[in-house]
Formats: sequence, C-alpha cells, structure tokens
Amino acid sequence: MKQPKKILLTGAAGYIGAHTAVELIQKGHDPLLIDDFSKSDDTLLKGIEKIIGAKPNFIQGDCKDPAFLEKLFSQKKFDSVIHFAAYKSVGESVSDPLMYYNNNLRSMVELLNAMKKFKVFEFIFSSSCTVYGQPDVIPVNENAPFKKAESPYGTTKQMCEQILEDVVRSEKELRVISLRYFNPVGAHPSGLIGELPIGVPNNLVPYVTQTAAGLRPKLTVFGNDYDTPDGSCIRDFIHVVDLAQAHVVAVEKIKNMPSNNEAFNLGTGEGVSVLELINKFEKATGVKVNFEIGSRRSGDVVKTYADPGKAKKMLGWQTKLSLEDSLTDAWRWQKRVSHLSI
Ligand code: WQD
Repeated sequence: MKQPKKILLTGAAGYIGAHTAVELIQKGHDPLLIDDFSKSDDTLLKGIEKIIGAKPNFIQGDCKDPAFLEKLFSQKKFDSVIHFAAYKSVGESVSDPLMYYNNNLRSMVELLNAMKKFKVFEFIFSSSCTVYGQPDVIPVNENAPFKKAESPYGTTKQMCEQILEDVVRSEKELRVISLRYFNPVGAHPSGLIGELPIGVPNNLVPYVTQTAAGLRPKLTVFGNDYDTPDGSCIRDFIHVVDLAQAHVVAVEKIKNMPSNNEAFNLGTGEGVSVLELINKFEKATGVKVNFEIGSRRSGDVVKTYADPGKAKKMLGWQTKLSLEDSLTDAWRWQKRVSHLSI
C-alpha cells in the first residue's frame, strides 16, 4: 500500500461518502469524517463502525463555516480533501435554488480557502454526469460539452467545476480530480450501509426497493414513449462500492496525473433502461415490483451512459460489480432498514 493519506472527507454521513470512508479505512488511509447532518443522521456512521470494527474519526460540523474549518485544519495536517457534502435532489433544487447555490457553492469556496491557508494541495470533487445535460454523443466521454443543466442542482455541479478550473489556474500547487458519477446504486454487501432517501425517494432504485418492501403502493415509470428500444429512459447504473473504490484510487494517484485538473466519468459503460432494471430486480430477488406507466418527468435525460475508458487508462480503475450485484445489495439493505425478514 502506498503511503497512508490523511484525508478530510466531507459529507461522510451520506450515501457515497460513507461507502468511500469504508474503502479508504480498509485500505489503510486515515480519513477524518465530517458532516453537518442537515440531510442525514448518524445511521451510516454506525454502519461504518460495524463494518470496520472501530469508531470512525468523525466530527459534526458545516464546511460552509470558516471557523469550523479553521479548527479542523489547524488540528490536523491533511494531505487531501474529498468533498461529497452537497445537496443533490433535482426536484428540491428547482423549488429552492437559493438553498442549493448557497450550500453547494459556499461549501466548496470555504473549503478551498481553508486549503489555501493551510497548504493542502489535493482536492477530489464529487461531480455528476448531470453536468453534460442530454449528451449528443453516447457513450459520453470527458470531452463532451457542458450543456444547459436540467436543474439548479446540475448547475451547481457545473459551477463548482468552473470554480475549480479557475482556482487551479491561480493556485499553481493545487491538484484537482473531479469524478463525474453516472447513476450510483446498490449498497455495501454487508447490508450495514446503503442509501437513505429522506421522505419519498427521487431516485429509481430506492423507489423500487421501497415498493418491493411494501412501503410504497406502486412505482411509477416516468414514461415509456421515448425513442429507446422499450420506450423507457436509459441510464448507466454503477454500484456504489465500485464508485467508492474509484475515490480511493483517485486520491492515491492524484499526484501522477498529467495535469493539475482532471475529470473522470465513472460508470459501467453499459446503458440499461428503467424497465430492464425493474425486470432485473425481480429476477435477482424473486420479488415482484408493482408499477404503472406514468407521464414523463420534466428534465429527464432520455439516454446516457459513460465511456469509462479514461478512468481505466489513467486510474487503472473499472467497475467490477454487476447491476445484479447492485440490486441484490440494495434489496438486502432495504430489508434491514425496513426490518423485514422476507
Ligand atoms: C433514473 C431514471 C427516471 C424514479 C439523478 C441526478 C444525477 C444523480 C442521480 C444525484 C429516469 C426514472 C425514477 C421513479 C422513474 N445524482 N424514474 N420512476 O434523474 O438519472 O439522475 O440522480 O443523486 O446527478 O441527475 O436518476 O434515479 O432519479 O432517474 O421512472 O420513481 O428512472 O425517469 O429515467 P437521474 P433517477
């Protein structure tokens, strides 16, 4: 193992942050986890503790708060920052854009200020394929243009990447990697951590598992009249553990990148439709999903999936887990959180 790294991991009580914390710790790194619990609680932190067999280093706090960051950075000499903390609901961002611009942009700016002051030069950013909008060329590579984002949430991701582009130009020693996730799904195979949507899930897979668990009467498929083989939208569903491992590789290899600002599309490279996913879930779990076809959801991209070639070439990373693994693991987690013995 390379030199263990001291990492500040923000948004650690969230879905992808928690899974990345597990992979970092199990690889021998030393992450300090922070979260303000504005969109989470300590459930996943307890799950991390069970998986790693020890209490993770965690401090509650808001990375928009310069005084909080000052305290953290003066107590620990970090090698790197992995920044997950952001609001991520497409729908909520449309109804409350200012909350999204305030939270997602200010957390990034305050973190970069603290890094500059305390001479921390490695930054891994949690970005999203949403920066591409509806791509013209599929599969999508990192040279695809940023088109108008479908939501203020997506716009904050585009703006954050623009901020990073400007700051690496002025801060010569800063090195940045932006990881553009396609659709993260699934849960840790232990069933001890997973996705914890607040209220009615926005995303497909948690809605599928909650319907299968009887917590929702039925799933609505938002349209089957698109120009795709079965009429439903197509996405690149990537297992959250594969995604977490990509962050470990990125933080280990950031110094070897050819430039001080690289972006990587993180996906399987395969497109799967909504209806295909439902069918796969039923086959993998033996549980029927009650669904109906409803009208299209505004802002939905019809079809997108990654060209993961750059991550494979430059990070030596590619997905190892299948959609079946994702759905089986998501179901195990759903049964645990809904105390189901089925
Ligand atoms: C996937 C497909 C829906 C729910 C968004 C963000 C992205 C990423 C993941 C933030 C679409 C259909 C969904 C439902 C449905 N990050 N669907 N019924 O919109 O591709 O991506 O979330 O979390 O940045 O943009 O993900 O899971 O919401 O939708 O038919 O109840 O499933 O129409 O075609 P999306 P999603």
